[in-house]
Amino acid sequence: MTEQSQGPALDNLLTESRTFPPSDEFAAAANAGPDLYAAAEADREAFWAKQAERLHWDSKWDQVLDWSDAPFAKWFVGGKLNVAYNCVDRHVESGHGEQIAIHWEGEPGDTRTITYANLLAEVSKTANALTELGLQAGDRVAIYMPMIPEAIFSMLACARLGLTHSVVFGGFSAEALRSRIEDASAKLVITTDGQYRRGKPAALKPAVDEAVAQTPTIEHVLVVKRTDTEVAWTEGRDIWWSDLVDKQSDQHTPEAFDSEHPLYILYTSGTTGKPKGILHTSGGYLTQASYTHFNVFDLKPDTDVYWCTADIGWVTGHSYIVYGPLSNRVTQVVYEGTPNTPHEGRHWEIVQKYGVSIYYTAPTLIRTFMKWGKDIPAKYDLSSLRVLGSVGEPINPEAWIWYRENIGANRTPIVDTWWQTETGAIMISPLPGVTSTKPGSAQRALPGVSAKVVDDQGKEVPHGGGGYLVLDKPWPSMLRGIWGDNDRYRDTYWSRFADQGFYFAGDGAKYDNDGDIWLLGRVDDVMNVSGHRISTTEVESALVSHPTVAEAAVVGATDPTTGQGIVAFVILRGDAVDGGADAVKALRDHVAKEIGPIAKPRQVMVVPELPKTRSGKIMRRLLRDVAENRSIGDVTTLADSSVMDMISQGLNKGGSED
Ligand code: PRX
Repeated sequence: MTEQSQGPALDNLLTESRTFPPSDEFAAAANAGPDLYAAAEADREAFWAKQAERLHWDSKWDQVLDWSDAPFAKWFVGGKLNVAYNCVDRHVESGHGEQIAIHWEGEPGDTRTITYANLLAEVSKTANALTELGLQAGDRVAIYMPMIPEAIFSMLACARLGLTHSVVFGGFSAEALRSRIEDASAKLVITTDGQYRRGKPAALKPAVDEAVAQTPTIEHVLVVKRTDTEVAWTEGRDIWWSDLVDKQSDQHTPEAFDSEHPLYILYTSGTTGKPKGILHTSGGYLTQASYTHFNVFDLKPDTDVYWCTADIGWVTGHSYIVYGPLSNRVTQVVYEGTPNTPHEGRHWEIVQKYGVSIYYTAPTLIRTFMKWGKDIPAKYDLSSLRVLGSVGEPINPEAWIWYRENIGANRTPIVDTWWQTETGAIMISPLPGVTSTKPGSAQRALPGVSAKVVDDQGKEVPHGGGGYLVLDKPWPSMLRGIWGDNDRYRDTYWSRFADQGFYFAGDGAKYDNDGDIWLLGRVDDVMNVSGHRISTTEVESALVSHPTVAEAAVVGATDPTTGQGIVAFVILRGDAVDGGADAVKALRDHVAKEIGPIAKPRQVMVVPELPKTRSGKIMRRLLRDVAENRSIGDVTTLADSSVMDMISQGLNKGGSED
């Protein structure tokens, strides 16, 4: 682990001290009351068993939790269920086939209305199609798609057949897709011809063609037509969705799978260049996704219209668009596009159009809305909103207050939800009908979850103290490992506090004087850019793969909109031309090509040297000082303390930003 990052400025976090209790009316009608904490406290396993009973099980479990092989948990041992049945069929069977499951809004303005009966038919057809392709329970399927209904049908069809999906964000590069397909030995990729990006169609399939040219495990590429973009075609391998899926029967009988059957792999950045395939299984995952969605958002399935603005390429899309909400019989909006296409009021127009009552987004977007101005939301009728959520990074109190005032009419509770790809579902959050919310704090672990802030020795810090966030008890939706790498799993999450048996989340945190938890950002070499996790090493590896780069060091610098911005310091090779604007642009583009546009450095600074300790470790702390325009901190552990002067001088000629 490297030195602790500053995360968001603590001073800023603690300037807002107002609290906002729920209204009596909200509290009286809320799904979750204070008794939930007491029930979980009295008997944790019985509590989780009760939550699991909200689902349909084909056979009941014999044991709630088996932790004997820690850190590999088994939840609801011996139980069997079908995840897709729980998200779709049972709602049709209970007489809600005509309820709208998805109000889908395409970026160009086209729409689709999908009822639960429609969803069942589409998922069944997709499942029959995947079976025709020869896929069998346990096989892996890569899904590389924009936010169109077929992406959701595909995920649910996989779940229905016991296929393990690996969704790869549609903004990732061919190389990122290739490495993920290879790591999971996927047999099928489901994709589209193209996707809409900021009002224009952009091709997507060429990236798949490039990726699968090097992945022999892939047998087929199933392609949904979305943009009518001309695409290259490999006969025998490539299949149009419309040719295969449309002709299938809309009847399909789901099979029950073991509670621990793998449901999905989702890759996330770690502290090395190689992303980790986070593995989630079925019964425990669905239990906690469903429970948290129901209680944290106070979902009323008969009246609410819910909207989570995430992409299915991230865990938020998995747990809070697909599995949690659909298991709760949600009516939800799914939006394909960007928030400013064709205008900056698009989200509020959608809220008004569908009467959205629950809205879940990321702080980076809230800060972007702030930048665009409060006049924009003010033009729309947002009176349907009754719960607002935030996820992905610490929300600064200023953005929290802006969100409450300008979107929530000073009335709606805001739930700041802390969790991770690894935790599978929300862990720390207010309950909207119980908690007096505090701008900037995620507050306390949900009933059934246990989190602590501890010092270096694993000892809990007192109120007012700061340290590391740990989860000290197993939880149902916890990751079951890193795909194919149990050692890395133990090492990454369980070695830091091995004596105590704590899961180390990688986040710094503090307790305030009331004992509420404030998240302070990552303490490892993982950056958080617009709520997306990107490792410094991954970007460094991409940079040094460019022929002109000799060495690179990357830091996350505080950014007013994106939380952190990627700042790269590079040393060019001796024979490379000087680091002018063209060279810098080439490097930024190269990173976008290697990883994806989200990893494009905000700034590339060409420097003559990097600050290193005597053991050769790059001192990122000093580079962060430079990147954030602070005076440079203690340089006494540098092997050569004149390096920082050289860097500052080098910046004058090489620094660049656009
Ligand atoms: O640093 C924390 C931050 O996002 C990380 C998890 O990223 P990811 O796995 O991509 O999942 C994002 C969506 C769940 C965490 O380690 N993070 C997430 N939510 C919050 C947060 N930091 C502060 N407050 C939050 N509410």
